[in-house]
Amino acid sequence: MATTEEILERGRTALIGNYGRLPVVMQRGEGSLLWDTDGKQYIDLFAGFGGAILGHCHPALIEAATRQAAKLWHVGNTFYTEPQIDLAERLNRTAFPGQAFFCHSGVEANEAACKLARLRGKERGRWKVISLNKSFHGRSLAMISATGNPKTKAGFEPMVPGFIQVEPGDIAALKSAIDTETAGIIMEPIQGEGGINVYPAAYPAQVRQLCDENGLTLIFDEVWTGCGRTGKWFGHQYFTDAAGRPVLPDIMTLGKAIGGGLPVGAMFARPEVAKLLVPGTHGCTLGANPICMAVATAVFDTIESGKLLDHGNRLGEFAVARLSREPRLAGRIAGIRGRGLMLGIEMTTPPEKIVEKGLEKGIVINLTAQKVIRLAPPLTIPQELWEKGLDLLIDTLALV
Ligand SMILES: Cc1ncc(COP(=O)(O)O)c(C=O)c1O
Repeated sequence: MATTEEILERGRTALIGNYGRLPVVMQRGEGSLLWDTDGKQYIDLFAGFGGAILGHCHPALIEAATRQAAKLWHVGNTFYTEPQIDLAERLNRTAFPGQAFFCHSGVEANEAACKLARLRGKERGRWKVISLNKSFHGRSLAMISATGNPKTKAGFEPMVPGFIQVEPGDIAALKSAIDTETAGIIMEPIQGEGGINVYPAAYPAQVRQLCDENGLTLIFDEVWTGCGRTGKWFGHQYFTDAAGRPVLPDIMTLGKAIGGGLPVGAMFARPEVAKLLVPGTHGCTLGANPICMAVATAVFDTIESGKLLDHGNRLGEFAVARLSREPRLAGRIAGIRGRGLMLGIEMTTPPEKIVEKGLEKGIVINLTAQKVIRLAPPLTIPQELWEKGLDLLIDTLALV
């Protein structure tokens, strides 16, 4: 059997070095636990950037995948297939009345959404899309142009024209950025890569109002916040206007968790907007793959039947209380943000090699925006394992 070092060496040679990979080879997962090739066990507090929302090898997802794999794999989108209709109907039930387009990733869903915003604005000469500083919308050329982080753009200039960024939470800045060529606004309900940033409570409704007044398409990028991550089905379901009415987007995009770890992206739009995407305007050969669709529907079923939104909320609240009262962390934490099981712990100073230190202790965590520890465990993590994971996290953070 190959040693870990041998596998690492093969990986360093065979794979492009675009990821800052850790020197660990993950081999097996079950629930919220992972094991590497040396047999070391980890509590997974990050679920592969949120994708493994039900943890690893969930029996319901294995069942859905194998059932569908024995029936139909791929025919392309010149045909109707039931698994994608099931999933689209599920989005209708859990989000708002709309129609779905399926692809493989978050960035593709956002591309589709921005294309649709341009189509909608075309007759009025509107084509530009405004996004927010510290946002992240993916790695394609158009989406690094939309992303509000100079590091993501660096080396790839010039950017795709028509993407403008303004400061999040500043409605006056947004208003003055809108001109006669603006087609839409894209924003995450909570900024994920940017550091788990939440907006002032009134901001989303003000953005919606600006869109209505100017005939703009509002896109909520729910790639991080969607499918139960924040304790509601979708992050925007926390948003209301002054009269308590829900703030809805024209288009919502999904990725990560929707496939439970399989590659699924979705653009979900109000029918009046969706209808502009006529044959020939957009597509995706392997999009809506029946196996991926069946698994995605099983993700929704399992969250619903297991009451995992409530579970996630309870665990999130427990973590905030536990971490903020821990004497060993006094003076080390600048703030804890997020909702449900999408949590960001901002440290007072950038913690050195914190992810590696976490691995040594037996937990998988993430660091973003230099000093924000991100936690996004599977929604299925049991209370005792969560408590154990938080204890190990505290041991890790107390080292810095
Ligand atoms: C909010 C948001 N949008 C889009 C993306 C891109 O998704 P993907 O990596 O699936 O293309 C990400 C990825 O982190 C994200 O956080």
